[in-house]
Amino acid sequence: MTASEAATFSAGWLALREAADHRARSAALEAQLAKAVAGHDELRIVDLGAGSGSNLRALAPRLGPRQHWTLLDHDGALAEAARSALAANADRAHTEGETLVLDLAGRRVAVDFAIADLAADPAAARAHHPHLVTASAFYDLVSADWCRGFAQTLRGSGIVVHAALTCDGRDSWHPPHAADAAIASAFSAHQASDKGFGPAAGAQAAAVLAAALANAGYAITTADSPWRLGPDDRALIAALAAGTAEAARDSGQVDAATAQAWAEARTQAGSCVIGHVDLLALPA
Ligand SMILES: C[S@@+](CC[C@H](N)C(=O)[O-])C[C@H]1O[C@@H](n2cnc3c(N)ncnc32)[C@H](O)[C@@H]1O
Repeated sequence: MTASEAATFSAGWLALREAADHRARSAALEAQLAKAVAGHDELRIVDLGAGSGSNLRALAPRLGPRQHWTLLDHDGALAEAARSALAANADRAHTEGETLVLDLAGRRVAVDFAIADLAADPAAARAHHPHLVTASAFYDLVSADWCRGFAQTLRGSGIVVHAALTCDGRDSWHPPHAADAAIASAFSAHQASDKGFGPAAGAQAAAVLAAALANAGYAITTADSPWRLGPDDRALIAALAAGTAEAARDSGQVDAATAQAWAEARTQAGSCVIGHVDLLALPA
């Protein structure tokens, strides 16, 4: 991700990472989540920073027969991309007013789209009366203060919280390169820069969110969910190398020549592991 993409993410980048994201997510945690939210006539779910709908595509097949999702994002173009992609990939799709209604392998999945700035309103999800607030690849953008405010808005609500694919900073590339440590340090500084929510929690986000939710009365379970990229992920590795190098250069901690040399070498990397954490928070 580059500095210019900090507030806006391209549908192309989200599509490129989706297969790796879905492979990485903790199936064990999702099974635990499915059990915790079973039994509702219609399960109401809010997806924070929903982008083009990847989290729904991963999670809906694991949840109950009737679901109502609200895909919440500040980017209207991504919401439109989500609407088109979800309709195109469903067994059947129709609209009821503004609501998109999908048939996904026998599940009835109603989808609404809410355009809202979560930085301005950490409680935005509550307006949709969810049983579950989920998000993927979102919390590393927010600040520790935002996490604490968000957690407090959920205190006593009974709402289950699930967070997939929060970056944890444990990245490794093979074979090693002389600039790995310098790039990692510069990238980590960039990760902590403001993405619209104040100084980003970045690699600390999962731990900060867990502590904030525990403090708001939740029982927390986490599971590692790293990307494990290899020869079948060449396009993603190349995009990741370019984005990491650009972010490292933008941090001002490495010069342009070092960043470029590292990106060129990394585009040819045989494999890499990019650390993420999944989190499930159950109301105590
Ligand atoms: C890394 S993308 C993840 C998208 C999607 N959840 C996925 O897994 O593909 C982060 C998402 O957060 C959204 N976002 C960033 N800042 C936001 C804000 N202030 N309010 C609402 N959404 C925001 C972006 O538009 C983007 O869709």
